[in-house]
Amino acid sequence: MAILIDETKKVIVQGITGREGRARAKLMREYGTNIVGGVTPGKGGQEVLGLPVFDTVQSAVETLGEIDVSVLFVPAHLVRPAAIEAIEAGVKLVVLVADRVPVWDAMAIAAAAEEHGAEFVGPNTLGIISPGRAVVGMIGGRAESARAWFKPGNPAGVGIISRSGGMSSSTGYYLGRAGVRISTIVHVGGDAVLGLRIPDVALRFEADPQTEAIVLFGEIGSSQEEDLADLMREGRVTKPVIAYIGGKAAKEGTRFSHAGAIIEGGKGTHAGKLAALRDAGARVVESFGELPDATAEVLRGLGGSSLMTAAERDAVWTTAVTKIEPNRVAVRGYDIADLMGNVSFGAAVYLILTGELPSDAVGRLMDAVLVSSIDHGATPPSCLSARTVASTGASLSQSVASGIASINRHHGGAIEDCARTLGSLIEDAAAEGRSIDEAATALVAEIKASGSRISGFGHRVHRKDPRTARLFALATEAGLTEPNAQHVAAARAVERAFAATGKPLPINVDGAIGAILADLGIDPRVYNGIFMIARTPGLVAHVAEEQTREKPMRRIDPVRHAYDGPGLRSVPGAKP
Ligand SMILES: CC(C)(COP(=O)(O)OP(=O)(O)OC[C@H]1O[C@@H](n2cnc3c(N)ncnc32)[C@H](O)[C@@H]1OP(=O)(O)O)[C@@H](O)C(=O)NCCC(=O)NCCS
Repeated sequence: MAILIDETKKVIVQGITGREGRARAKLMREYGTNIVGGVTPGKGGQEVLGLPVFDTVQSAVETLGEIDVSVLFVPAHLVRPAAIEAIEAGVKLVVLVADRVPVWDAMAIAAAAEEHGAEFVGPNTLGIISPGRAVVGMIGGRAESARAWFKPGNPAGVGIISRSGGMSSSTGYYLGRAGVRISTIVHVGGDAVLGLRIPDVALRFEADPQTEAIVLFGEIGSSQEEDLADLMREGRVTKPVIAYIGGKAAKEGTRFSHAGAIIEGGKGTHAGKLAALRDAGARVVESFGELPDATAEVLRGLGGSSLMTAAERDAVWTTAVTKIEPNRVAVRGYDIADLMGNVSFGAAVYLILTGELPSDAVGRLMDAVLVSSIDHGATPPSCLSARTVASTGASLSQSVASGIASINRHHGGAIEDCARTLGSLIEDAAAEGRSIDEAATALVAEIKASGSRISGFGHRVHRKDPRTARLFALATEAGLTEPNAQHVAAARAVERAFAATGKPLPINVDGAIGAILADLGIDPRVYNGIFMIARTPGLVAHVAEEQTREKPMRRIDPVRHAYDGPGLRSVPGAKP
C-alpha cells in the first residue's frame, strides 16, 4: 500500500498540451504512473505522447471510464474552473501544481470538493510520490533520479509530509541516504488555503498498514503542526512522528517564500509548534541535518522493516524477482520451500513472470500451455538444430542452447504475433464501432487480397490441432469467458471468417496460446520465453537420444525418420 497515489490509479493531466504538462506527463509515465489521457479545452482529438486529449474532463471520463486522479498543469488564473470541472466529473483526487492561485479560488474549489466528496492537494504543490510505484506532479524530476533518490517503502516505509516543495525532495533524498524506505511523500503546498493539510495526510498515514512512522517537514505559520499534535494527544495518530520545523529565525510578520508561512497575532510560531509537537510525544529535531539519523534511530527502536540493511543501502541496482538471505530463498516474496510441493510448475512460471500466484484453474491452464509445447517431434528447427549440434560432439548445454537459439520470430514467435494481431483487431473494432465478427471478416478479406499470412492459424500437419480444443476448454474452466476473454473471442471470430470464405483455417496451438496469454494479461514480450521454457525438456530428450543412439556427424534427414517409442496409451487418472 501507499497513500493517495500508486500504479493502479488512473490519472489524467489537465493542461497536457502545455509546456509543463507535456514534459511532466512524460516523466510521470516513465516513473510508472498510469496516465490514461489529458484535457485541454479546444484541443480534443489531438494526441500527446500517444495519449488521447479531450476537450473536457467529462468527455475523458465518458471515453476512458472513471478517473481516480487529475493533476493540473494549468496556469493559476484558470485553475478554479479546471479543478471544479474535474471534481464535478467525479474525479476523487485533484492535484493543483500552479502557484499564485487566488485564495478565493482555492476556497471555491474546497466547497466544490466537499459537495462532491472529492479531495485536492495544493495549490502550489510539487505533488505526491509513492516511491517505486507512481508520481503525480513534479517531485523527483527525471524518473531515473527519482528512482535513485527515494527508496521504495516495500515492505514498509515512513510517510513524509512537507510544507516545502524543494524540501520534500531533499527530505526523501537524505532519508534514503540514511537507509530509510518511504511509503509516500506528500507536499501539501505552500498556500494559506489548502486541500489536504498536514493533519489530514497524517490520518491517512496512520491508516496505511505500509507506513510505520511519519516524518514531518513543518514551517512557521498556520495551525497545521499544532492540529497534528492535537491528533497525537487524542490518540488518533499513534505512529511515531519525527519532525523538523523551518523558520526558527523568522520574526513576527516575516513572510518567507510561502504564502502560508507567516506568523500573525503570535500564532504559528516556531517555538509554539515545537512545544506542541514535543508535548504530544513527537521526536522534534532542532536542525534539518539531524532529521535522517533521528528517523533511523526511531525506526531501529521499532524493529520494523522501514530501515534498509547496509547491503540494501549500498546496492546500486535492484531486482524484484528473488530475495536471497541466509537460510531463505523467496521468489516474488514466497518462501521457495512453501512453493515446493504446493504449487505446480505452471503456477510457478506464472508467478515468476507476473509477480503474483495464479488461481488454481489458471495454474492448471499454465501447466497445460507448457505441456502443449513440450515437444513437436524431430522436424521443428529447434530440434533439428539441437540434434545437429549434438552430433558434432558438443555438450548438452551447447546443443540445447543451439535449439533455443533457433526459437525466434518464425519458430515460436507466432504466439506473440497472433496475440498482437488479435489485440489490434479488438482495438480497431472498438475504435470503428464495429463488431468483432465484422472486423474479423474485413481482416480476412484484407489477408486474402494481399496474399499475406496470419500467424496462429493453420498448420503444416494438423487440419484440426489436437491441443487447441483442450486449451480452450481449460481456459473456460479458468474463467476466460466473455468479457474477460476478448482475445479468445477474436481468435474464434477470425476462424469463423476464414470458414465463411470456403477455405477454413483453424486456430493452431500457437494462436490459442497467444490468445490465452493475452487474456491472462501476461506481457507479450515474454511469450517466446514461455515457449522456450516449454520446449526445453523436449530438446534435452532429443539431444540425449542423439548422443546415445546415433553416430557422430551423421547426416540428419529432416523428413525420413520413424517413431519407435511406446504405442498410444492413456494417462492414469486423466480428467476429461
Ligand atoms: C501550472 C504551470 C506549471 C503551467 O505552466 P506552463 O506549462 O508553462 O503553461 P502553458 O501555458 O504552456 O500550458 C498551460 C496549458 O493549460 C491549458 N489550459 C488552460 N485552461 C485549461 C483547462 N481548464 N483545462 C485544461 N487545460 C487548460 C492551456 O490551454 C495550456 O495548454 P496549451 O499551451 O496547449 O494551450 C505554471 O503556470 C506554474 O504555476 N508554475 C509554477 C509551478 C510551481 O512552482 N508550483 C509549486 C511547486 S513547489
